[in-house]
Amino acid sequence: METVLSGIRPTGNLHLGNYFGAVRSFVKLQDEYECFFFIADWHSLTTHPRPDNIRQSVKTILAEYLACGIDPEKATIYVQSDVREVAELYLYLNMNAYLGELERVTSFKDKVRKQPDNINAGLLTYPSLMAADILIHKANRVPVGKDQEQNMEMARKFARRFNTIYGVEYFPEPASFHLADRAVKVPGLDGSGKMGKSEGNAIYLIDDEKTIRKKVMKAVTDSGPTIPNAEKPEPVANLFAMMEIVSTKDTYDHFNDKYNACEIRYGDLKKQLAEDINAFCAPIRKRIADITADDAYIDKVARTGADKASENAAHTINDVRRIIGFRP
Ligand code: TRP
Repeated sequence: METVLSGIRPTGNLHLGNYFGAVRSFVKLQDEYECFFFIADWHSLTTHPRPDNIRQSVKTILAEYLACGIDPEKATIYVQSDVREVAELYLYLNMNAYLGELERVTSFKDKVRKQPDNINAGLLTYPSLMAADILIHKANRVPVGKDQEQNMEMARKFARRFNTIYGVEYFPEPASFHLADRAVKVPGLDGSGKMGKSEGNAIYLIDDEKTIRKKVMKAVTDSGPTIPNAEKPEPVANLFAMMEIVSTKDTYDHFNDKYNACEIRYGDLKKQLAEDINAFCAPIRKRIADITADDAYIDKVARTGADKASENAAHTINDVRRIIGFRP
């Protein structure tokens, strides 16, 4: 069976955009492939050298992914820093990673601009750590967003280079698996195309009913259509797109007919939409709360995942040591 692997940056809580994007894809993938999902806590040191309670952030993410249906019985879920073999592979890959190519990576250049006082070697070698994450499990496919394509190209290059330098056919070249092809795009309710944390328009899975209502009620609309069957301008289209995701077809049709007849009352639509978003989120929110309260369970999941991942990683590291010429 092919192996799928993906890394999750420990940045904040999950929102609906994440849910219908990566998270739901992961939940499906775990039934179709041998899956490894891990939280990239080492990577976060490239921007936050003194992380503020990193273990708590990692726990929060774990709890949220578990609540969304990532199943530790099906997939291996672990924390990057628990699998030290990754660091050893990172060392070997760095020996064959060249300054010029690392300096040309767009996200490195962005970071140089963003944090001129902390242009550290970890930032420069971010692609080799990511390649180590992937190659340690000899993963065949990596679900990533478009923004990770250059890092994926580097991972493929490092895999090929390793094989060439040591005259082996050891690492498979990891293919990107474009999440956008499988994901449902969740719009922003502020009239912008997309829901996102940095866009400041996110509805989080942990938002309570009141917060959801507040966020939906202040969604951007217009003064309403004046000609029947008019095309919807983006902010309004976004509200309908959201309805398509969380509401029933009847509800959608009802408001769509009203719109087409120029009888739409956005207040009513928003009220219904808030209710439907809440109905969708409520069970997930409850599971997040339950899992978050169960420290022992989260610890057990992390430990089991670390054991499984370390075992697999140890095989790879043994092979790699032998291939290079070290004592396995
Ligand atoms: N760089 C990825 C991101 O920013 C996170 C990540 C780290 C990752 N290691 C990985 C993703 C390995 C896929 C595979 O989202």
